[in-house]
Amino acid sequence: MTAAAGNKDYLQQSEAVRERFERLKQRPVTLEVRGLHKQFQGSEGPVTALRNINFKTHQREFVCVIGPSGCGKSTLIRILAGLESATEGQVLLDDKPVYGPGPDRGMVFQGYTLFPWLTVKKNVMFGLLQSGAPRARAESEALQWIDLVGLSRFADHYPHQLSGGMKQRVAIARALANQPRILLMDEPFGALDAQTRAKMQSYLMDIWQHIDITVLFITHDLDEAVYLADRILVLKAHPGEVQELIEVPVPQPRSPEQRLSPEFIATKQRLEELIHPPGSEEDNSDHLDMVRLVPLDSEVRSVL
Ligand SMILES: Nc1ncnc2c1ncn2[C@@H]1O[C@H](COP(=O)(O)OP(=O)(O)O)[C@@H](O)[C@H]1O
Ligand SMILES: [Mg+2]
Repeated sequence: MTAAAGNKDYLQQSEAVRERFERLKQRPVTLEVRGLHKQFQGSEGPVTALRNINFKTHQREFVCVIGPSGCGKSTLIRILAGLESATEGQVLLDDKPVYGPGPDRGMVFQGYTLFPWLTVKKNVMFGLLQSGAPRARAESEALQWIDLVGLSRFADHYPHQLSGGMKQRVAIARALANQPRILLMDEPFGALDAQTRAKMQSYLMDIWQHIDITVLFITHDLDEAVYLADRILVLKAHPGEVQELIEVPVPQPRSPEQRLSPEFIATKQRLEELIHPPGSEEDNSDHLDMVRLVPLDSEVRSVL
C-alpha cells in the first residue's frame, strides 16, 4: 500500500454522520482517562509502557484501541479494569476515580476464561450470585443474557462442549450480566478463525444496538476496528502514546457490505499509514518478548 501523502478522505463525514457525532458528544462521559503514565521495572531498567494518555468515552459509544504489538494496549485496559495501577494519572468512571476492579466494568479477554467446571448457565450466574442476587433471580437473568447471545439451547452445556466463538459469546453474556457501565474487551476475537471472527463482530454489533453500554475494544486488526468503532484511538509504540483519535465516517448501524464503501476503505488506509508507516519494518519480536506474569485465569478470578 502506498502511504497516500495527505489522504484526508477519512476526515470527510456525510451530514448524517456529522450529526451523529454531534449527538454522541452531547451524551454523558462514561470513562475519562487523564494524564495516564505507566512505567514497569524491566530487567534493564524502567520501561515506559504508556505516556500521557488522555481520552473520554461517551455513553453508548464504541471505541476501539489499535496499535502495534507492545504499544501498551493490554496495559491500558488492565489499568482501566483496576487490575494494574497507573504510575501517574487518573481513570474516572462516571466522574468517580477507579482504584481497583469492580462490577461496573465487564471484561472479555482473548483467552477463554470461563470456569470449565461450571455449565454455561452457572458461568453467567456466577457474578450475579457474587454480588448478592437471590438464586432464582440470578438464574432468570442469566437465561435472558444467554438468550441474547443466542445460546439458549446450550445453557446446560459445559465450556468444553462449545466452539471458540460460542465460548466468547458466553464470556460476553457473563460480562454483561453484571450490568456494567462499560465493557472492556482485549482482543476478544483474536483467537478465532476469520469466518467466526466476522460472525462474532456482527453478534457484538447486534447486542450493542440493544443495550445501554459503552464498549472499549482492543484489537490489532484494522478491518475489525473500522467495522466496530464509532471512534478509534490509535496508539504508537515505545512509549505507548496517543497518535490520533479517529471519528469513523462509516454510518451506523453497520453491515458487512459497508466494508466496500469508500469511507471504510479511506479509514482503513489511514490506519495503515499510522500503524505501518512507509519504511517501517514490522517488528514481531515484541510478541516473543512479552511476558504475562499473571496467568489469565487467576486475573479473571481475582476480579470475580
Ligand atoms: N508486567 C510487566 N512487566 C514489565 N513489562 C511489562 C509488563 N507488562 C507489559 N510490559 C511491557 O509493556 C509494554 C506494553 O505491553 P502490552 O500492554 O502487553 O502491549 P500490547 O497489548 O499493546 O501488545 C511492552 O513493552 C511490554 O513488554
Ligand atoms: Mg495485548
